[in-house]
Amino acid sequence: MANTDSSGISFTAYYTGEVWRQHGLSLDAFKTPQGKTLYYLGQPFEKMARAVAGFSTQTTLLQRHHIIDYVVKKAIKEQGVTQIVEIACGLSPRGVRFCQEFPDLHYIEADLPDMLAHKQRLLAEHGLLSKRHRVVGINILEENTPDALAVVFKRELDPTRKTLVITEGLINYFDYATISGFWNNLAQVLKQFPAGAYVSDLYPNFTWHPVTKVINAFVFGLAFATQSRVTLHFNNQQEIITSFKQLGFAHTQVHIPEAYYGSLAIPTQRGASLVRVIENWV
Ligand SMILES: C[S@@+](CC[C@H](N)C(=O)[O-])C[C@H]1O[C@@H](n2cnc3c(N)ncnc32)[C@H](O)[C@@H]1O
Repeated sequence: MANTDSSGISFTAYYTGEVWRQHGLSLDAFKTPQGKTLYYLGQPFEKMARAVAGFSTQTTLLQRHHIIDYVVKKAIKEQGVTQIVEIACGLSPRGVRFCQEFPDLHYIEADLPDMLAHKQRLLAEHGLLSKRHRVVGINILEENTPDALAVVFKRELDPTRKTLVITEGLINYFDYATISGFWNNLAQVLKQFPAGAYVSDLYPNFTWHPVTKVINAFVFGLAFATQSRVTLHFNNQQEIITSFKQLGFAHTQVHIPEAYYGSLAIPTQRGASLVRVIENWV
């Protein structure tokens, strides 16, 4: 049986969660000792990266979170999406923020068992769970188990609602053969709803970027720390669009941070941005 244990990635969610909180995007409900420790340990590296390369991990974490928020809000307001599943939610505050802003929205947060149990406890302690804001277990690597994507969607979702799935900070931890299996399954299950969308961040392969060596060193370190196969899957925008078409998505749009520098409150950086947000509709 294929290895379906990717829990080595989970600790990084605490770092991101604290970055969001320190920048006013999250709530005190998601303040954790793990997040604070990782955040302060990471500061010297973040400062050094900013000085040497003109950006840091935090830059891309904030860029991707703001742009995903923007794209998803647009899908709610303009396309009538009323059901969202945030897979690999970690300590994302989006479910809380969006349920407060959109009274008709159903929001399901999904993750591996340990992270999910922690998230559920934090949400429950602060009275933030409700019938329309729930947590469920999902493992994107499993098939035909109670935590497999298709099984969870059939059991937990309302098939009459326009549905959007989010992943953030997940896909680059897997090689293409593995993550494309998830994307294929996702396109199939999303076709069962009146409308289906998938929004995610991704880091393409920047072989041309002036700081390629810094990026490669970071990728190597991250793969080692998380015991995963960190992979930059695509070489350019056209490759992203072509691949998602082959995977079963009818329309793909690639959002680039530079396009939002004037309009969203995202940090800018010296040199070209590194993160992309993809918006796919089936
Ligand atoms: C880098 S964190 C990202 C969390 C959050 N979305 C963020 O941006 O901070 C990766 C998340 O993926 C979850 N995860 C790892 N492997 C997974 C899998 N096979 N299926 C679902 N979630 C997984 C981890 O538990 C963790 O919460």
